[in-house]
Amino acid sequence: MTNTDAYGHVRGESVYLDDIPLIYNTLFACVFDSPVAHGILKSVDLSQALKLKGVVSILLALDIPGVNQIGGIVPDEPLLAEGHVHFQGMPIALVLAETEEIAQAAAKKIKVVIDPLEIITDPRIAFEKNELIIPPKKFKMGDSDLAFKDCVHVFSGRADVNGQEHLYIETQGAYSVPMEGGGIKIYSSTQGPTAVQRTVARVTGLPMHRIEVEVGRLGGGFGGKEDQASSWACLCALGTLLTNRPVKYSLHRMEDMRMTGKRHPYSADFKIGLNKDLNIQAYEVVFYQNAGAAADLSPAVLERTLFHCTNSYFIPHVTATAYSCRTNLPPNTAFRGFGGPQGMFVIESAITHAAEKLKISPSVIQRKNLITPGEEFPYGQKAESEAVTTWVQADSYFDFEKIISAAHDFNLKNKNKKRGVALMPICFGISFTKTLMNQARALVHVYTDGSVAVSTGAVEMGQGVNTKMQQVAAETFSISSGQVKVHSTNTLRVANTSPSAASATADLNGKAVLLACEAILNRLKIVAAEELNIPFHTDTIKIENGFVFHQNIQTKLDWKTLVNAAFVRRVNLSEHAHYATPGVHFDWTISKGHPFSYHVYGTAIIQVTLDCLRGIYEVDFVKGVHDYGKSMNTLIDQGQIEGGIVQGLGWMTMEELVYDVNGKLRSNALSSYKIPDIYSAPRTIDIQPLATTRENLAIFSSKAVGEPPLMYGIGAYFAIRDAIRAFNTNASPEYDAPFTPEKVLMALYDSEINKFHSHHSSH
Ligand code: MTE
Ligand code: HPA
Ligand code: MOS
Repeated sequence: MTNTDAYGHVRGESVYLDDIPLIYNTLFACVFDSPVAHGILKSVDLSQALKLKGVVSILLALDIPGVNQIGGIVPDEPLLAEGHVHFQGMPIALVLAETEEIAQAAAKKIKVVIDPLEIITDPRIAFEKNELIIPPKKFKMGDSDLAFKDCVHVFSGRADVNGQEHLYIETQGAYSVPMEGGGIKIYSSTQGPTAVQRTVARVTGLPMHRIEVEVGRLGGGFGGKEDQASSWACLCALGTLLTNRPVKYSLHRMEDMRMTGKRHPYSADFKIGLNKDLNIQAYEVVFYQNAGAAADLSPAVLERTLFHCTNSYFIPHVTATAYSCRTNLPPNTAFRGFGGPQGMFVIESAITHAAEKLKISPSVIQRKNLITPGEEFPYGQKAESEAVTTWVQADSYFDFEKIISAAHDFNLKNKNKKRGVALMPICFGISFTKTLMNQARALVHVYTDGSVAVSTGAVEMGQGVNTKMQQVAAETFSISSGQVKVHSTNTLRVANTSPSAASATADLNGKAVLLACEAILNRLKIVAAEELNIPFHTDTIKIENGFVFHQNIQTKLDWKTLVNAAFVRRVNLSEHAHYATPGVHFDWTISKGHPFSYHVYGTAIIQVTLDCLRGIYEVDFVKGVHDYGKSMNTLIDQGQIEGGIVQGLGWMTMEELVYDVNGKLRSNALSSYKIPDIYSAPRTIDIQPLATTRENLAIFSSKAVGEPPLMYGIGAYFAIRDAIRAFNTNASPEYDAPFTPEKVLMALYDSEINKFHSHHSSH
């Protein structure tokens, strides 16, 4: 089954927030945001802005009737600045005007006086000044101090990895409409309708039952709308509350890039110890997360960095410490992988560093240390590992040795073009690491014409979850998919939802749909038994392809007649079902538990070709084997894999987020922030499925697919490094992603002298 959204998307008929037909009397909003990254807000002058014809009102923090607070995990983030500003792009005022143009023009006329304070953009400096969002988090297994003493090889170093702009095609936005009796309906481009509802309730002072949040679909979220869609919804809702008019705000691209947080940059120190057989015995790592000016989701992201700090490897002695450091950047937030990729980049850097010192291929160390079934992750969960399986299968499909030696031959024959190869195993835990979030609900109605309506807490953001929900209902009832319609995500139909995130949306909501359909199906079977005058038994009565079967023989009773018979008998044709992932728990007092219902594994091999005169590169291919469980929809899952890989490659190669020392975003538009296009995508992506059957925890035995493939992209960084060293054997560039062509060029012509002066120490 293809993605049901594809038809509307290619015809331009799919409705996004900005496509909602304008409602009579709508006001348009525009934020005035801080031009200074840190300071005391002395005064705001609205006089010139208010003189513009068509400006209806301008709201400040003091106009907020409820609480001026949008922090989800830590209450440290005002919606509108009050007294202080903490980052460039922090909302200070909201202009409401008759047209979008007037709102934008008025915002430009607002003047502020800000007494500047010291600006911190570097997480290590924030750490030195004890600017921590939360107390440090630590994972410990075994005794790394002791274990290092027994290691034959010990290496240490530093790894840095930059952030990433989400660049969803649809920018952030919201549209709020006054409802009878003082309520508000909000159309929002959010991954978390309930987060929006809860935050709007707090800011407006209204109870949650007065606030309806409606989400049709998103033009991409990638984590950027898990928490950060709330501001715009709150601002529009405030506008509606204070003017009793609909308020719309659809951010311009540069506003969005300037005001929203991104993937967290990290800086890390590592120490890795190996025995003579190259088994990693000990690993010590300290992470400095650049959280930005407020907590947002940073604490949870920090935790996932720890959960994935050993990637797919078993290391008996691990000490991992993570600091969430407060800087004067926009609050950083969820982004596909949720901190996991950053942790994985650091262990891969450590392994590569060790291999280079030992003059062996990193793949030797990688292969030797893959986690095997029953071995323990540093957080206490035992692996049901497919790490070796995916590695071995990828090797047998694609022949690593052949690829590596062909690249070697190419390098012997070519002076100014070099090929580099890297292996990239991945391991990603599925479930929200916050156990309570692993729940979902679905509402299923069967109508008297036999058609079925499904509502869940799942938000369609391009990942194809609606198609999967439709499949669950159609397969469970054994009716055609055309008889099932998946409706918008709405807090009135499904309440208290977890955000669509953690790759678990189909897992959680799909199970809820399944439970709802099964409950209705069971009631229908009882009706079928009565109608056909046969004994009721769930196993002998089946519905297949729209007909009732008894003991595998088709009866005359069809789906629609059965549904009608049930209705006549006053049988309930609707069900609201609840699902909570079984078996997941975690105890933060000891940092041990079983946080994930399962892990997704895979192994990829990545090859790049480097132009050593220019420092530019092409990714020739990404090939590998990925653990899908039993894929529910291979087309959609392949799409997720290809998109994830290209997004991961972009993060590791060309996407360069630049804030200057004043905390001003310099890469603030598509002209200065380059994401991969079709020319920079790999020539070939060939990811073969590994069908695993050991688990039945996810819907229809599938495994989550949304985030894990992004991490194959990390391999591109190390493939580029490999190619550089084929050209310049002395090159030992710092581990500092992304590997932009500028950095590549510097590394190609790096000399021992340059290296000596480098500030990164290693031995
Ligand atoms: N794919 C598309 N097309 N658009 C998106 O915004 N978000 C990613 C991933 N794939 C995203 C996407 C992220 S960050 C997550 S967590 C998952 O999809 C969320 O959806 P799922 O839980 O249904 O996999
Ligand atoms: N993943 C993604 N989003 C989240 C998580 C997580 O583990 N926890 C809270 N939000
Ligand atoms: Mo995805 S970062 O969990 O929205």
